[in-house]
Amino acid sequence: MKLPPALKALLAQAIGTATALAAARSGMLPGGLWPVVVVQALAATATATALGSAPWWRWIHLGFAPLVVVALQLNIAPGWYLAAFIGFALVFWSSFRTRVPMFLSNRATAAAVAEQLPRNRPSRLLDLGSGTGSLLRPLAQMRPDCRLEGIESAPAPYALSVLLTRREPTIAVARGDFFDIPWSDYDLVYAFLSPVPMAEVWRKASAELRPGALLVSNSFPVEGIDPDHIIDVDDRRHTRLYCYRPAGPAYQQKSGITGL
Ligand SMILES: C[S@@+](CC[C@H](N)C(=O)[O-])C[C@H]1O[C@@H](n2cnc3c(N)ncnc32)[C@H](O)[C@@H]1O
Repeated sequence: MKLPPALKALLAQAIGTATALAAARSGMLPGGLWPVVVVQALAATATATALGSAPWWRWIHLGFAPLVVVALQLNIAPGWYLAAFIGFALVFWSSFRTRVPMFLSNRATAAAVAEQLPRNRPSRLLDLGSGTGSLLRPLAQMRPDCRLEGIESAPAPYALSVLLTRREPTIAVARGDFFDIPWSDYDLVYAFLSPVPMAEVWRKASAELRPGALLVSNSFPVEGIDPDHIIDVDDRRHTRLYCYRPAGPAYQQKSGITGL
């Protein structure tokens, strides 16, 4: 079903709760709290499955109500829940909407990206969703001649990236949405996101990147588009970089640009 995942999750929990309450009122369940909790969890999981939620949502629904009950029995002061909520919100911010989680590039990946920057001249790189600056910081050591920029929407990683890059004159980080800024001034645009935004990333890269500029996507290919080349990074997570030239030969033929 074509509903946003967060709405499907809300529906699954609401239907699970309504089913459990109805079963308890009808006298079908043995006494006590746990039979109600088990019915809620099973009904929420069944609803999520019927709505076509991703498999990990089913496990979340199965564990959600039992964990709430266990947590309530631990008598944790409510302030801790508020603190955890605020902490997660500051780190993950709009992940529920963008469906891009928070994970960081490693040094081996930064070295592979450094190899993709033009060697004969200083160039400009943009990291889409720059997190804590974990790609930009090692890159600044490897390519001190280049201008390295990042844009990040979540407040906590952004604040940390500002702190960690304060002594790096070639790095600039900004807070905002990378879809709202032009990408036309960059030689390389780097993305480590998720499969969800890749079609939109590709549309914007195709519309804005200049001929010869490279779009490098860590781990998530653009569906239906052949990469210019692929890099297998020699790291523990077997990082794969999909490298595209959106304004490549096809663009040059269409627009009559030659000799680039
Ligand atoms: C997987 S992390 C990658 C962090 C960093 N680029 C790296 O490679 O270490 C993706 C980041 O993109 C951010 N993000 C997702 N969508 C965004 C958007 N539209 N504009 C700005 N940042 C975004 C998330 O908040 C998250 O911090």
